[in-house]
Amino acid sequence: MRRAYTRRYRHGQQPLARRNTTRVRRAVSAPPHSTLQSNPSQLMKYWNGVQHNLNSDDEAIFQRTANVSTYGYMTVSGFQTVLSQYRAHDGREPLRVFYDLGSGLGVPNVVAAALVPTLQKSVGVELSSQRVRESNTVLNNLRAEHPDVASRVHFINGDILSTQWSYVDADMIWISSLCFTPELASKVADRLNKELRKGTHVFTSKALPELNHTYHNKFTAEMSWTSNSDVNHYIV
Ligand SMILES: C[S@@+](CC[C@H](N)C(=O)[O-])C[C@H]1O[C@@H](n2cnc3c(N)ncnc32)[C@H](O)[C@@H]1O
Repeated sequence: MRRAYTRRYRHGQQPLARRNTTRVRRAVSAPPHSTLQSNPSQLMKYWNGVQHNLNSDDEAIFQRTANVSTYGYMTVSGFQTVLSQYRAHDGREPLRVFYDLGSGLGVPNVVAAALVPTLQKSVGVELSSQRVRESNTVLNNLRAEHPDVASRVHFINGDILSTQWSYVDADMIWISSLCFTPELASKVADRLNKELRKGTHVFTSKALPELNHTYHNKFTAEMSWTSNSDVNHYIV
């Protein structure tokens, strides 16, 4: 609340009369509310029975491109930890655009849209066509009950290095990169160096020493395979 008011003032507006302040503050800081925000763990029911196996076409693609298909996901609690780090370190407000590079079954993308009402675009890029199909099934089921959340999530099938799309509008990026080869990690850093705007937050399980940055810290967050997986936080 305070931040929204302060920013309006800093950008040259006159201070608001005290009598009107409460009303204006409430209007500025009351984004559309998702019922999922109060109990985000209920989201996980949408992945019940969803498989992360690859089909044979996917297997051939991963083999040909020397990519690694290992699957695991960031839990709701893990995403909440990441989000609190974003907000604690002068994160761009409001958070509007989020990318998950290697989005698997789309858990972080959906959780982000449910927890961040200001998010306009939550995009997952995933090499496995089967996983993208499953992610879109989850999205369709979610749409029936939470259209406001589902409408802001998009899944793209392809390589995160493909130049058919760009990450230039990102405010926040998540890369579950533990299984990335050193070559892929290095190419991702190179790509992000060329595209990201100053101030973008990049969260990655593997350190990306080649990423140009003004801030770097490490913390732990919950993933499906452990309660305390390392996460590197960079601000470029
Ligand atoms: C460990 S999973 C993480 C899933 C999701 N990001 C999460 O945190 O819940 C990593 C995903 O990256 C995908 N992946 C690996 N290399 C990729 C590439 N070059 N382009 C797109 N996706 C890739 C894998 O198929 C896998 O689904």
